[in-house]
Amino acid sequence: MIKANKHYSKLNASYLFSDIAKRVAKFQSDNPDIKIIRLGIGDVTRALPDACIKGFEQGVAEMAKDATFKGYGPEQGYPFLREKIAKFDFQARGADIAPDEIFVSDGAKCDTGNFQELFSPDIKIAIPDPVYPVYLDTNVMAGRTGKYKDGRYDGIVYLDCTKESNFLPKLPETPVDLIYLCFPNNPTGTTISKAELKKWVDYAKETKALILFDAAYEAFIRDNDLPHSIYEIEGAKEVAVEFRSFSKTAGFTGTRCGYTVVPKECMIFDEDGNKVSLHALWQRRQSTKFNGVSYPVQKAAEAIYSEEGRIQIQALASYYLKNAELIRLAMSELGFEFVGGDNSPYIWIDGNGRDSWEFFDMLLTKVGVVCTPGAGFGKCGQGYIRISAFNSRENVEEAMVRMGEVLK
Ligand code: MLT
Repeated sequence: MIKANKHYSKLNASYLFSDIAKRVAKFQSDNPDIKIIRLGIGDVTRALPDACIKGFEQGVAEMAKDATFKGYGPEQGYPFLREKIAKFDFQARGADIAPDEIFVSDGAKCDTGNFQELFSPDIKIAIPDPVYPVYLDTNVMAGRTGKYKDGRYDGIVYLDCTKESNFLPKLPETPVDLIYLCFPNNPTGTTISKAELKKWVDYAKETKALILFDAAYEAFIRDNDLPHSIYEIEGAKEVAVEFRSFSKTAGFTGTRCGYTVVPKECMIFDEDGNKVSLHALWQRRQSTKFNGVSYPVQKAAEAIYSEEGRIQIQALASYYLKNAELIRLAMSELGFEFVGGDNSPYIWIDGNGRDSWEFFDMLLTKVGVVCTPGAGFGKCGQGYIRISAFNSRENVEEAMVRMGEVLK
């Protein structure tokens, strides 16, 4: 008899964003005349930058001729892209990352989800609350948690990120082996200073723990003092893996490309406490289970690092940041407390005593605006909603007028 993975039964019936999409689709089909404005899932709406389109076209043109056609590429990505990433995203910021420490992939969601495979089933995990659900759900699937009770899984060390802690996690009070961090944060939009991040790196070094650092939203950082990469912190190469995505940086949500940095110094341990190279394990995993990103997509990604590409992606992020500013302004005029939206495309809004899902339903049904209920990101998200700045200026302006009508 074929048996199901019993750990899947511990999960909520559907993934947060699929659940929201279903509710929105149902509302739209019941109310076909309402123009829904989607500020829920962080999905970009603007076209790919010109530089990327040119890179794409060049890649496609090469695939059209026998002489330049490409079959299987290197699973870890073509050197032309890995070299640019290492140079512009890390070395230019004083972080000594080499091209062969970069693993190009089809996005940060897959990598953050897959990476936990490299660890023993019995490790202790620290996960912030609220959190991007992928970190938690993939560990549930892998059997690293107990049952779901009162909004939390047994066996996980939750790091509460509340108003009282400025939405930053505090160092765990009980020992942990793996720590997930995300900055600029999804969902709260908060950022971390170098000094705060150093505390985590020092903690991981002292306790032989590992940090999985999700920097998918670094392109939205405008404050020059904030770190874009954990490798700007001394010693981080020994204890941290970093995930990056071109999805939000360059509009690649539908194009699919990102990368993971696994430094060669980064070690984990076997049963007897001997060092094991994490770089070698990820290389082994990827070459077995992944066949690389398509050549035209990697050409499009490479173009991000050209002179025109860098200007264009900066402008793209600034466009969404302007939307975020409009959302912040509207929310403060309406008297709501919020964080995020200054170095991040997400604004985390305190619902003033409203239940998250009720707030979500009210905005959807009364004014046709989609947000994300904070409770979907964890127990500490209850009472909050997340508004995403990824939409056209016109739609964001209209959504703010509509929200004003119902929230005044
Ligand atoms: C989000 O809305 O949190 C993100 O778009 C999800 C993702 O990037 O997978």
